[in-house]
Amino acid sequence: MTLPRIFYILFLFVFFTLTIIFTNYHNLSSSKQDDDDQQRERYKYEVINDNNNNFVVVNNQQQQQQQSNNNTKLFMTIEKLQNEIEQLRSRLEMIESKNVVVVDDDQRNRHSDKLSSNRKYFQKTKSLPYSEKKRILITGGAGFVGSHLLDRLLFDGHEVIVADNFYTGRRSNIEHWFGHPNFELLHHDIVNPLYVEVDEIYHLASPASPPHYMMNAVKTIKTNTMGTINMLGLAKRVGARILVASTSEIYGDPAVHPQSESYWGNVNPIGPRSCYDEGKRVAEALTYAYAKQENLNVRVARIFNTYGPRMHANDGRVVSNFISQAIQHKPLTIYGNGNQTRSFQYISDLIEGLVRLMNSNYSQPINLGNPDELTIENLAKIILNLVHSDNQNDNKKQQPDNHHKYIDYQSAKQDDPRRRRPDINLANSILNWYPNITLIDGLSKTIDYFRFELKRSLGG
Ligand SMILES: NC(=O)c1ccc[n+]([C@@H]2O[C@H](COP(=O)([O-])OP(=O)(O)OC[C@H]3O[C@@H](n4cnc5c(N)ncnc54)[C@H](O)[C@@H]3O)[C@@H](O)[C@H]2O)c1
Repeated sequence: MTLPRIFYILFLFVFFTLTIIFTNYHNLSSSKQDDDDQQRERYKYEVINDNNNNFVVVNNQQQQQQQSNNNTKLFMTIEKLQNEIEQLRSRLEMIESKNVVVVDDDQRNRHSDKLSSNRKYFQKTKSLPYSEKKRILITGGAGFVGSHLLDRLLFDGHEVIVADNFYTGRRSNIEHWFGHPNFELLHHDIVNPLYVEVDEIYHLASPASPPHYMMNAVKTIKTNTMGTINMLGLAKRVGARILVASTSEIYGDPAVHPQSESYWGNVNPIGPRSCYDEGKRVAEALTYAYAKQENLNVRVARIFNTYGPRMHANDGRVVSNFISQAIQHKPLTIYGNGNQTRSFQYISDLIEGLVRLMNSNYSQPINLGNPDELTIENLAKIILNLVHSDNQNDNKKQQPDNHHKYIDYQSAKQDDPRRRRPDINLANSILNWYPNITLIDGLSKTIDYFRFELKRSLGG
């Protein structure tokens, strides 16, 4: 091999070796560069605001961590804000609807755990179009009959104003509607004029039980005369239809049996009951004087003995007397020999009759009562049986079979009618109305109510 050739081979060897070394070095250095870049990126420091207005120095890794923390925080903040909005919305709802939520019984039972205890819940009422919705005044609406009528008219979707002086009425009869948008209560004595704008008036204000109306006879007369004039005057002024609650007492101690609307009655004008009986007779006379003279649209309901929940336990009426005495194991007081008769209608039947009468075109007086007549003594026996058949485990249980032991006969009251039974043919033919609650069913519901009320009043 010649020398130049050896040099040439050596040169090539050196050249390739150097090329390889250089290439490797470059690769190595570029990967290192990448690593360095990454490292630099990772440890690049920045000053950031940590959301609490503190400025902190963080590197990129911390920044990414911070970013994900921020995202979590952001989600939590949104969730918190949504909760707050929800709370504000329900508070607004409460304020706007005067703390009122309308639910039906079914909803209340299903969601009782979720319904807040500081809200007032109402039973669902019908929603009427503006053209059908009436504004109705009930005088004496906090009393026994008035409060049931209030329930009915509100359920039917009307607006109702109750005017009552609470002489015999009670807030507890109507408090379940306090706060309802369709209900308004006026503490008002109707002996004074009343100025309200209404479409209909149910004029019920008057004490109705003998002890109540005899307690202040002059006031009873004033309420039924001056009060009725005020209500008729109001009806005339605003063009409202008015229904006046009269009574079977206008027949007095009747010489005709059963009593139809054409019977003029047999009333002692100066007896202890006359403040009520004559008061109601004047109320009827006034009503028809206004109808004739002022062309007023009037209705007159002659109501016979009515009973049911919300009667006052101490109102002296025979049903409430007997039930509260029987529940308290006291003898039942009968005035006279107990052979005098009465006919008792349950409250829901009366309410149906009143509403039908108001909506009818009939303007003459109409009897509303249950024609099933029974003696007062029989009524006492039925009540004793009903009350004590429920008292199975009662130690003081009375023996209903031996009734005389549990009835206290006292002397008859002056002017107490001997017989009372309505002829309801007119109501049946004109209003297509007939009472449909039996005495046993009605008494059972009333006894349940009295048990509850007496327990409550005795703190039980
Ligand atoms: N319940 C019956 O068996 C019966 C029978 C016949 C007639 N009625 C008539 O029905 C109407 C209602 O009777 P009730 O059984 O609900 O009697 P109630 O005593 O329970 O109710 C009468 C209501 O009228 C109110 N009132 C009395 N005087 C008032 C006045 N001056 N101003 C404002 N409010 C006054 C009372 O506070 C009470 O809320 C009465 O007109 C009564 O004559 C009832």
